[in-house]
Amino acid sequence: EWPRLHEVFGEYFRIGAAVNPRTLVTQKELLTRHFNSLTAENEMKFVSVHPEEGRYTFEAADRMVEFAKENGMAVRGHTLVWHNQTPDWVFENGSGEAADRGMLLARMKSHIDEVVGRYKGSVYAWDVVNEAVADGGEQLLRASKWLDIAGEDFIAKAFEYAHEADPAALLFYNDYNESVPAKREKIYTLIQSLKERDVPIHGVGLQAHWNLEHPTLDHIREAIERYAGLGVKLHITELDVSVFAHEDRRTDLTAPTAEMLERQAERYGRLFKLFKEYSEDLTSITFWGAADDYTWLDHFPVRGRKNWPFLFDARHQPKASFQSVLEAA
Ligand code: XIL
Repeated sequence: EWPRLHEVFGEYFRIGAAVNPRTLVTQKELLTRHFNSLTAENEMKFVSVHPEEGRYTFEAADRMVEFAKENGMAVRGHTLVWHNQTPDWVFENGSGEAADRGMLLARMKSHIDEVVGRYKGSVYAWDVVNEAVADGGEQLLRASKWLDIAGEDFIAKAFEYAHEADPAALLFYNDYNESVPAKREKIYTLIQSLKERDVPIHGVGLQAHWNLEHPTLDHIREAIERYAGLGVKLHITELDVSVFAHEDRRTDLTAPTAEMLERQAERYGRLFKLFKEYSEDLTSITFWGAADDYTWLDHFPVRGRKNWPFLFDARHQPKASFQSVLEAA
């Protein structure tokens, strides 16, 4: 009988998994055994809960929150303001033209009031704004309709509205490529300016969509130290370790190679040793899934290419990666 992950790391951080209505059923045993935090993979996103103006659809999200309660698990809310998975109506005025700033911010506020208000006391941390920083180039913020219409303070507004809706919730800014130095510095600049203006932000979410070699351990360490220097909490929000290098576009593998699994185990061991070193700042580690029978990476960035990014195999059995994470504890 293997020890439970969340117990092994209990004094350091929570161990979370992203779930969807299907995996909540198919992975139930695994989830309740090893994890003590859940995130909805899609079911709390704008398009899922608010498909039309004033019409809210909370069934799937409610079910996940119920599951978490029944099993004594925490819930991270994901996500309120994002350029993806947000319906077009949000940015339109009803006559086929763009909404204006006042209309867009009013909609943002009602959305946040409704969603954060509903899960007050159930969701302890929210990814309030997701992926607002530009990857490359000179500009700080990514081009988006939020930015276009509402201007750069759409970010501050989102945090203020969320704080009003649930003053006790921990509010996070969440992003990917968070450990790449150029983008890390932009994220740092954004968070620093929010803090300077007393915007209620409490944490930075590191998505951590990583692979066997990138980002380097040094870059991950530097990112953790840099963000922690801002006096915010850190959560790893969407961890997966792809067995493919970014340039590797092969689609013919039906099982991971022994070498992939060995390298992944070594990588996971090093990552968790590092996470432990920073457990003062780093208080939650969430995987973007739980076991290799299902991952969004099966369709991203290469369509229909199976991936094996987790600690548990497709039959929910511990992989070498699980064992080396245990050894890191
Ligand atoms: C992904 C989901 O896993 C997919 O099912 C969906 O089709 C697209 O979104 N960054 C995020 C997550 O913040 O919300 C994304 O989730 C993965 C990348």
